[in-house]
Parts: sequence; structure tokens; C-alpha cells
Amino acid sequence: MRAFITGGAGFIGSHLADALIARGDSVTVLDNMSTGSTKNIAHLQGKIQVHEGDIRDKALIEKLVEQSDIVFHMAAALGVKNIMEHTLESIDRNFNGSEIVLHAATEYNKRLIIASTSEIYGKNPNQPLNEESDRVVGAPQKIRWTYADAKALEEAVAHTLHKTHGLKVTTVRFFNTVGPRQTGQYGMVVPRFIQSALKNQDITIYDDGSQSRVFCHVEDAVKAVLTLSETDSTIGDYFNVGGVGEITIKELAAKVIERTKSASAIKFVPYSDAYPAGFEDMQRRVPDISKIKRFIGWQPRHSLDSIIDSVATNLKG
Ligand SMILES: NC(=O)c1ccc[n+]([C@@H]2O[C@H](COP(=O)([O-])OP(=O)(O)OC[C@H]3O[C@@H](n4cnc5c(N)ncnc54)[C@H](O)[C@@H]3O)[C@@H](O)[C@H]2O)c1
Repeated sequence: MRAFITGGAGFIGSHLADALIARGDSVTVLDNMSTGSTKNIAHLQGKIQVHEGDIRDKALIEKLVEQSDIVFHMAAALGVKNIMEHTLESIDRNFNGSEIVLHAATEYNKRLIIASTSEIYGKNPNQPLNEESDRVVGAPQKIRWTYADAKALEEAVAHTLHKTHGLKVTTVRFFNTVGPRQTGQYGMVVPRFIQSALKNQDITIYDDGSQSRVFCHVEDAVKAVLTLSETDSTIGDYFNVGGVGEITIKELAAKVIERTKSASAIKFVPYSDAYPAGFEDMQRRVPDISKIKRFIGWQPRHSLDSIIDSVATNLKG
């Protein structure tokens, strides 16, 4: 199978490329290297085709989509800090760029997997979140939600193109996904904590650390994506992909210190010191993964300990 991955030099995209190559597919990657890196796919040199370019380049997207059998649309601007500091550029990439990919897949009648996000549920307090849960987001001046808004619109366009033009799309809503090659640079909490712990520096928690999350190893997430893509009954549908085991951010910091045998201390800073105005957070974010279990029998295998260990090993190496 000829697979085309947008954002294939990124964290999830590069692991997907590994899995597709292992399966015997031919793989083409398009990436603008904004948050991705050639380092993430250096080990695949000679095995995959790499194009450095932008998903908003319509002619290039049309050509690469036409030449493929299946498209995995992973490219996006992400990371809360990144979105808040580069808001207009992020909206343009995440909505307008995605629209180009969606229309090309429709025109050439290709199987498409799109990467959406748990952020679309916003701060809905009714947890765990299932695929029919409402979106509860703040006012438009709360800029954080523009990422969720653009992704939700992308999903809505995909859903409509499926209904009206038969687009063979499956939507994957990733919850916090973690593993080797993810950087802490854009505010991702697990690599950020582990980086500090390995240097015995203070681990900085925003707010009081009582907010909770659930983490999923990227290998598990990629397995979910591949199985969804191989299952025709998932076409036109949308699935949460997330881990199990809710943990508060304060407990996470303690666990990171324990597993890395670090001498780091924990420091608390208010959100207002960490983010520009326009930030707000959700207190809990817990996935209900019963739908994907029911459809394809998928469930995550990695524990949080094994996630922390694999990220620490990668950051040390
Ligand atoms: N990692 C998570 O926890 C998580 C959670 C929810 C959703 N997602 C979604 O999964 C997908 C992959 O995320 P990731 O964690 O691997 O992040 P990432 O930043 O590592 O990957 C995104 C990739 O897209 C590339 N890119 C960005 N804009 C582009 C453009 N205009 N043209 C071409 N390439 C572009 C980046 O350089 C990067 O390589 C994204 O769509 C993201 O929104 C990730």
C-alpha cells in the first residue's frame, strides 16, 4: 500500500511511518519541519520519500494524494504555548491547510485518517468524555480554544464531505499522547517534567497541580490508527484514542522524580506567569475508550511507568 503522511516528521507521524514501513508499505512524508524534525525520520533514510513543504501548497497536496492509496493527515500546529503565541498562523494551518487535504482526498477518492484531539471537548466537566460529549469552550478571546475550534471545524468538514461526497474518512481524537521523540518545547507536560528531572532541576507545575490527565503511549496510539485504517466499518466515524489511569499533575511530577531517581524539587507557578492572557485550562481530561474497544478490540498496553521510562531513555540517549 502507498501511504502518504502529512506531518510525518513529527512525533506521532514518525512513529506511524515506522509502523507502516514495518508492515511493508511504501511511505511518503510531507512536513514543513516547524515542530517536526529530520532527526525523527533519519533512521528511515532511503526507505521513505520525504518532501519538505506545506499542507497549504494545494498543487503539491493534490499530487501526493493522487499518488497514494491512503492518507494519514497528522500535520498541525499544536502545543498550547505555540497556539497562543502564533494564533493566526495556527488557525490558518489547522483549518485552511486541513481543508486542502480533505478536498484532495475527496477528489481522488482516497482513504483518509485525520488527527483530531480531545481538546475539542474543551472544559466539559462531565467525565469521562465519550465521542458524543458536548464541546464546552470559553469565549473567543480565550485564545487557547482556537486550536480546538479549528480542529472541530476540520472534523465538521470531514463529516460533511463523507455524507455528501462519500469521503472515506475516519477521525481519530487523540488524548494526551506521549513517548520518545516528543519534545517539551511546546509545553508538553511529560517530556518537560522528565527533562527537568534528568537535570535535577526544579519541576515546574502550573497552578496547584490538582488538574488531572490520562496518558497514552505513542506505540499504542499508532496501533489504534493502523487498525482503524484497516477496518472499513470505521469509515465516516470518529474515535477517542487515549490511555487509562487518571493522574493529577502533582502526582505525575512525583512519579517522574521517583522513576528517574531525580533530586528535583517541585515548584508551583500560577498560570498567569506561564501563559499570556487568554489562557484557561480544563480541570480533568479523561477519555472514554469503550467505542474503539467495541469496534476494533483496541486497548492501550503501556502503563504510565513504562511511558515515563521510555521517554527518559530517549531523552538520555
Ligand atoms: N501528541 C498529542 O498528545 C496529540 C493530542 C491530540 C491531537 N494530536 C494531533 O496529532 C497530530 C500529530 O501531533 P504530534 O503530537 O505528532 O505533533 P508534532 O508537532 O510532532 O507533529 C506535527 C507535524 O506537523 C508538521 N507541520 C505543522 N504544520 C505543517 C504544515 N503547515 N505543513 C506541513 N507540515 C506541518 C510539523 O512540523 C510536525 O512535524 C496533530 O494533528 C495533533 O493536532 C496530538
